[in-house]
Amino acid sequence: MRIDLMTLFPDMCERVYTESIIGRAIKKGVLTVESHNIRDYSDNKHHNVDDTPYGGGEGMLMSAQPIYGCYESLLKNGKPYVIYMSPKGGVLTQQKTKELAELPHIAILCGHYEGVDQRVLDAIVDEEISIGDYVLTGGELPALVLIDCVARMLDGTLSSEEGRVRESHYNGLLEYPQYTKPAVWHDREVPEVLLSGHHENIAHWRREMSLRETLQKRPDLLEKADLTQQERDFLKKLQKEATQNKQS
Ligand SMILES: C[S@@+](CC[C@H](N)C(=O)[O-])C[C@H]1O[C@@H](n2cnc3c(N)ncnc32)[C@H](O)[C@@H]1O
Repeated sequence: MRIDLMTLFPDMCERVYTESIIGRAIKKGVLTVESHNIRDYSDNKHHNVDDTPYGGGEGMLMSAQPIYGCYESLLKNGKPYVIYMSPKGGVLTQQKTKELAELPHIAILCGHYEGVDQRVLDAIVDEEISIGDYVLTGGELPALVLIDCVARMLDGTLSSEEGRVRESHYNGLLEYPQYTKPAVWHDREVPEVLLSGHHENIAHWRREMSLRETLQKRPDLLEKADLTQQERDFLKKLQKEATQNKQS
């Protein structure tokens, strides 16, 4: 997969590409990420990339011309699916990262200042994506969040594909609690079943704990989760227990 990043701050992103999961995906050859400095495409003699908004108002807006120039330069590698990181976009989900990981080529536009001239967004953007209902200073951190999530979805990035499948949100549930050595820490013991070596019992315990975690922390996720009748009955039992505990 190829990802082109259009940004005013390429140096801020480069460091992240060489580290972590993104770095591993690049080294393994499953991902190519290239950042492009929008300023290099400004046809203004001072290389300006922003201007004041028509109609007045605070701050500056990124101008259309350098962004469009940068976008045109990417077309040599084929037409990418263009994403604008924006607080107005649909909020990023695991499902969305799965869908994006299927695409061969995406380009991500990082905004700055008060945002971007709407005309260039209308001309080149296929989708706006937000990383949450809050406003950041620029699109670079959101873009890195998106790239990291997408990189995890690519076959060959993680050392174990199984790890990805059991993680929170992958199957619509939160992950079960995890423990590492020692078996007792500050008088707190690791659940016995995990020391038993009985794979079937461990898998059953993990699934139940996953349901329990999701019910306690993100019950909204259960509405869409793919559950068996037995699992639904288990959740009903947990809910009944919780209500009884509240009343007593
Ligand atoms: C200060 S923000 C501009 C906010 C804009 N004036 C508004 O009210 O919608 C500057 C840039 O940061 C990025 N950004 C800010 N918050 C974001 C979020 N929650 N998700 C994704 N990108 C975000 C966008 O690229 C945006 O153009």
